[in-house]
Amino acid sequence: MAYTYEYFQAAADFLRTKTDITPEIGIVLGSCLGPFAQAVENPVTVDYAEIPHFLLSTVASHAGKLIFGTVAGRRVVCMSGRFHSYEGYSFEELVIPIRVLKLLGIRAAVLTNAAGAVNRDYRPGDVMVIRDHIKLNGDSPLRGPNVEDFGPRFFDVSRMYTPELRKLALDCAKGSPLRVHEGTYMFFPGPQFETPAEIRAARLLGADAVGMSTVTEALTAAHCGLPLLALSVVTNMAAGVLDRPLSAGEVDEAAEKIAGAFSDYMKHIVAAI
Ligand code: HPA
Repeated sequence: MAYTYEYFQAAADFLRTKTDITPEIGIVLGSCLGPFAQAVENPVTVDYAEIPHFLLSTVASHAGKLIFGTVAGRRVVCMSGRFHSYEGYSFEELVIPIRVLKLLGIRAAVLTNAAGAVNRDYRPGDVMVIRDHIKLNGDSPLRGPNVEDFGPRFFDVSRMYTPELRKLALDCAKGSPLRVHEGTYMFFPGPQFETPAEIRAARLLGADAVGMSTVTEALTAAHCGLPLLALSVVTNMAAGVLDRPLSAGEVDEAAEKIAGAFSDYMKHIVAAI
């Protein structure tokens, strides 16, 4: 499908009828990281299903709501629940949420996800500030006719994970009980976890963590010039690092365990942005 600027505008216009809040920061909450949404004060919630031209969350651990409000005195909009290619969405469709948030006026995007650790020095419960990513699977979300109102056909991604925001996130880690690293995220399309051989290849290529999300949103943000911060919560050692099978239950359990400390860390970051 070839999208026009008006396509995204219809969703943003609808959302403006639901709230007067003009968000400064757009936050995407990954698997089981939804508890951060409880930190949003004076929340106004809109179900994805109500929003014209939006997508629907099909994953149980993703709520499927936009939450407008304030966190640490900053006006935010949180996506509680995100969209993945493994749900059946095309990469091109995955531009929709970030473009709609951009039209609502956000001036920075903060993306979060659950990820498997490739780097053997990482442990479940650690956080990784994404410095860069590797995406060798699937199309670019920017494939197809370019919508010039958002950005140019060809665009630089060498600083897409905004250096100043990465530094800010690392500085905010100083008062946090979390171990926070900076590293490279490698995208795998899922829904199956990776094979041990894929994880060995990822390590050789320079990946520190792997996951099934975030890069499409990050590329969409980079295309429209949005300052970007992306954080991975390490929920498990990636396939083959430990001699046992991976399960979604393990990922969800680890994400739930860290959700409180991660929420506090995020509040600190939002206050500092
Ligand atoms: N692989 C891919 N995605 C993930 C993982 C993993 O090991 N853990 C959490 N999300």
